[in-house]
This record gives sequence, structure tokens and C-alpha cells, in this order.
Amino acid sequence: MQEFLKRLPKAELHLHIEGSLEPELMFVLAERNQISLPYASVAEARAAYDFSDLQSFLDLYYQGMSVLRKEQDFFDLAMDYFRRAHAEGVVHIELHFDPQAHLSRGVSLQQVFDGLNRARQEAKEELGISTAMIMAFLRDRPAEEALEVFESASPYWHHLDAIGLDSAEAGNPPSKFGHVFKRAKELGIPRVAHAGEEGPSDYIVEALDALEVCRIDHGVRCLEDDGLVQRLRREKVVLTVCPLSNVRLKVVGNLQQHPLPKLLQAGLVVTLNSDDPAYFGGGMLTNFIACQEAFGWSEETFAELAKNALVHAFMNEERRATLL
Ligand code: HPA
Ligand code: ZN
Repeated sequence: MQEFLKRLPKAELHLHIEGSLEPELMFVLAERNQISLPYASVAEARAAYDFSDLQSFLDLYYQGMSVLRKEQDFFDLAMDYFRRAHAEGVVHIELHFDPQAHLSRGVSLQQVFDGLNRARQEAKEELGISTAMIMAFLRDRPAEEALEVFESASPYWHHLDAIGLDSAEAGNPPSKFGHVFKRAKELGIPRVAHAGEEGPSDYIVEALDALEVCRIDHGVRCLEDDGLVQRLRREKVVLTVCPLSNVRLKVVGNLQQHPLPKLLQAGLVVTLNSDDPAYFGGGMLTNFIACQEAFGWSEETFAELAKNALVHAFMNEERRATLL
């Protein structure tokens, strides 16, 4: 079964590239950029990844990415992940990235885009992996800042497959970003948003109504609202579920208690994803294997989940046809 899961062509729709920064590379980049880390060793960093909730993770996530300063750092970050994902049978990756978390440290959009785009090109040529870019806004920052960043990214809009919304969810409802997402819609840029991870199911409704998203990142709390579940099923809204992330951030007590089987029973369009693989205990294959162990799903179920991701990926139709 593990061999089947490895060979299954997997598309990853929910991945924060900054969350793929393994402690080994973090130490290399810290040395290269003369940045001091609060950890004495790789083992100490890993031991610190013991989270009580989303915010306790975000604190270490933003601290970890402080080693990313130059174009080459973003290239190395992404290539390191693309190689690992390729070895796990991942064929397509959609990268969320957080420009505000870099701009606030004096790193320019050009450094971020140039480094990530060079890695995407190399991944395509060397590994045969296709990629997509999702520029995410930090929902715990002011909406005006998100709009400014979006406008200042106009030279790079043609590189974007979508915009997204991430960071601390509770108390930062999707509607706060209505005008940014409206602007993206006017420009023909698709939209996704994290909702219903720690925040209530109402935030999923808001993301659909106020942001007009085509996917919900996480969305596991939709089960608290029967009407919403019916709507998600009717409108075939994709949920990018991240099982190990939900366990590590204590959204669920353990994987056996995860609502994934209920989401499938409800007939929703579910996909499996890693979110922040360096922080949550593993990448796509680790997530697939963990679900196999927790739920005992058949090959057919995993094939269906993998197909959902390929069908709904931001990917040109020619590429999709070669993968389906
Ligand atoms: N949720 C919200 N924001 C994030 C996450 C997440 O799981 N990972 C990185 N930023
Ligand atoms: Zn996420």
C-alpha cells in the first residue's frame, strides 16, 4: 500500500513554501546571512516544534523564515522542497507564499518572485514538476496593507495563479479583505482562503460570499453547519484538508478523531495536503500514509482524493490531460 501511495501521482494544493523550510537548511541560511537563531542545533529546533494552537506555530514560522533574505535563499528553499516532494511522487505543487512577512523585513518582492520563479523553472526542467503561485495575505495585518501589497505586486500579477488568505484566523474574518479580493476578481485572478481551521464555520460562508473563493483551505469546521455542507457539496467547493497539520495544531485531538471520513461521507470535494511539512512532521506521502493507518482507506479512496486535486489544480489543460 505504501508503494501504491508513493507512486500515485499527487498534486499538492495547500503548501506554504516558507513552511517547507527544514531546520537543516535554516541553519545553512542563518550562517550564510549572519542571522542568529534561538536554537543551538537542528535537533533543538525540531524539539521546539511542539505547538498548542495556530498562533504558537505562527510565532516559530515567522521566526524561522527570518533567514530568507536574498533571491538565492528563496531559490534554495523551494528547490529543497521540490526535490523532497518529487521523491514522494508529487507531480504538481501550488505554493502559497507570504509577501508581507518578507517585505516587513526589508526583503523586496523582486527577490521573492525571482528566487521562487527560478526554482519553478528548474523543477519543471529537472524534475518534471508543474507548479502554481498563490500570493497570500496575512489576515492579522490591516486590510489596507494587503491592498497596497497587492497593487505593488502589479509587475508580477501575471505570475499569480491565485491570491489567498492565511495567518491567525480567529477574530480576522474573511470580509475584512472584501475589497482586496474584489480587485483580484476584477483582474481575473482566482481566489482561495483559509477558513474553518480555527475559525468558525461562518468564516467559510463569508469566504464564499464576500471573497468569492473557488476553494477553502482547511474548511474542516464546515461540519458544524449542515446547510453549509449542502452548499459546499452542491457548488463542488474544493476543501484542501491538511491532516497532520490539524493534529499538530490541535484542531483535532488525534488523527483517528479527524473529520476526514465525515467530509468524504458528506460527498465533499476533499484533497489531502501537507500545509507546512517542515513543522508538522512530513510531506504529502507522510500525510497519505498517516491517513491510511488512521482510516484504513482503500486504494480507490486515495486514487479519488488524488484525482480531486488534479482535476481542480491551477494547471493548463494539456498538462492535466497527461496526469489524469
Ligand atoms: N493556517 C494559517 N496560516 C498559515 C498556516 C496555517 O495552517 N500555515 C502557514 N500560515
Ligand atoms: Zn495553510
